[in-house]
Amino acid sequence: MTFPDRRPRRLRRTPALRQLVAETHVTTDDLIAPLFVREGIDEPQPIASLPGVVQHTRESLRKEVAELAGLGVRAVVLFGVPAHKDEVGTGAFAEDGIVQVALADLRHEVGDDMVLIADLCVDEYMSHGHCGVLDEQGRVDNDATLEVYARAAVAQANGGATIVAPSGMMDGQVGHIRSALDAAGHTDIAILAYAAKYASALYGPFRDAVDVQIADGGDRRGYQQDPRNAREALVEVDEDVDQGADIVMVKPAVAYLDVIADVRARVDVPVAAYHVSGEYAMLKAAAANGWIDHDAVALELLTSIKRAGADLVLTYLARWFAEQAR
Ligand code: PBG
Repeated sequence: MTFPDRRPRRLRRTPALRQLVAETHVTTDDLIAPLFVREGIDEPQPIASLPGVVQHTRESLRKEVAELAGLGVRAVVLFGVPAHKDEVGTGAFAEDGIVQVALADLRHEVGDDMVLIADLCVDEYMSHGHCGVLDEQGRVDNDATLEVYARAAVAQANGGATIVAPSGMMDGQVGHIRSALDAAGHTDIAILAYAAKYASALYGPFRDAVDVQIADGGDRRGYQQDPRNAREALVEVDEDVDQGADIVMVKPAVAYLDVIADVRARVDVPVAAYHVSGEYAMLKAAAANGWIDHDAVALELLTSIKRAGADLVLTYLARWFAEQAR
């Protein structure tokens, strides 16, 4: 017996049909806008390698977040650029550190209309640019760093963060931060864990944005994941969920779609993906040369991240997306 031909093109015939059967939808609801706030400046500073993204003043940050809320964006993730760096990352946990005061400004400005996520790392605050404190041999000391993260988490929660997002890839960081938050009475503050964060070359423009140079030509391969390893991501994710992560993240996004899909299949907590600075910069540079169609490629990239299984996407495209979706 012969079967009738299968003809998948039947469902592609009209825009209405295609919309009806589309499996994946990107919506403003799922996007998180990364924002930078710099201490001690009077005017927002452009970032050459991240066109359209700036280092905000406290005032311009407040305005940007109010506008994003008006556009329907639900969440921002904040990074601080301190006026002074030191060997212990004081700005990351000081009560008057730039992110802590900016969080308080924003909470005052937008109340609960915006989910305020504080990136929790110390590299921006360290004179040597590493994500932790160094031991006598100049290596990142995992357990000493956990103490700094715990203080930073509590300071960010006191400032008004809804969620803290540890991004330093120290072992045990989620559990340690959870305990510190709970002990300080912040049992309602959630943790978005950068669970599978790779030692990627795609973070270059971000380091321009936060003025971080890693000392002595160093890199983060001693703590971030090796790009060759996918299974290891599941070990990291399991660890973080066991320790109390409320959301887990894969980073970068487009270069690690397989990892996003694996993580999605593994866990039942929401999965986030970070479409990082280098991924954004490549899009902007090619579009500026007229080599690709910015809007079409931007939408295709965001769609691919969601199709792979991400529930949430951190992206410098959040404002653009929200504007064109209106
Ligand atoms: C570390 C951190 C980095 C990014 C977010 N948090 C850089 C790094 O690990 O070196 C990169 C984000 C991006 O490239 O957009 N604090």
